[in-house]
Amino acid sequence: MGDPLDKLTIRGFKSIRQLEDFEFKGLNVLIGANGAGKSNLISFFRMLQAIINGNLNDYVRDSGGISDLLFNGRKATRLLDFSTRFGPRGYRFKIKPGPSEDCALIDEARYYDRGRSRWWNLGDSPDGQSLLVKEASGKSRGAQVCALDSNEQKIEKHYRKHVQLQDLFRTLLHELMTAKIRVDGLEF
Ligand SMILES: Nc1ncnc2c1ncn2[C@@H]1O[C@H](COP(=O)(O)OP(=O)(O)OP(=O)(O)O)[C@@H](O)[C@H]1O
Ligand SMILES: [Mg+2]
Repeated sequence: MGDPLDKLTIRGFKSIRQLEDFEFKGLNVLIGANGAGKSNLISFFRMLQAIINGNLNDYVRDSGGISDLLFNGRKATRLLDFSTRFGPRGYRFKIKPGPSEDCALIDEARYYDRGRSRWWNLGDSPDGQSLLVKEASGKSRGAQVCALDSNEQKIEKHYRKHVQLQDLFRTLLHELMTAKIRVDGLEF
């Protein structure tokens, strides 16, 4: 399993104007008055799930449009800003509404505190499809291809050994039958 969520920063999502480095523990309980923003925080995780599934713009549409998702509407909030850290890793992006209701994911970046550059910028995605998700699925396909290649190489190696042993066996049998070599007590 991956590292649990440690910190979360959200700026400009629904009633969450600015949540800075909000710390998560092993168990998290949301308590607050009606309208305090508990459901909004949960909606944010639903939106993250939609991004992972490649459905950001469907999520935006089903939620009533980007103006309902940006703090006080798209005129008041031009960008939704998100950043998170889990263990040595992190991830961030901004959501920018387009001229219609569709959204772009911009400044998407991943973080690794043992890496040389720490924040690694992945770029912008005008169609809202996460570049991190694309990268991860590309990697897993790459890993599968590597594993298949290595299995094929192993099969090929064993097949070559098998052919060599068959040749050796045929040669030995021939030499035994033509009495080129003798084994005590072995008669044909
Ligand atoms: N785009 C937005 N900009 C600003 N505020 C918003 C936006 N969308 C929703 N809100 C506000 O969020 C509040 C509702 O928050 P939420 O539903 O998360 O509360 P809650 O803590 O779950 O409340 P309850 O205990 O009643 O379920 C409302 O006051 C609503 O006006
Ligand atoms: Mg609620």
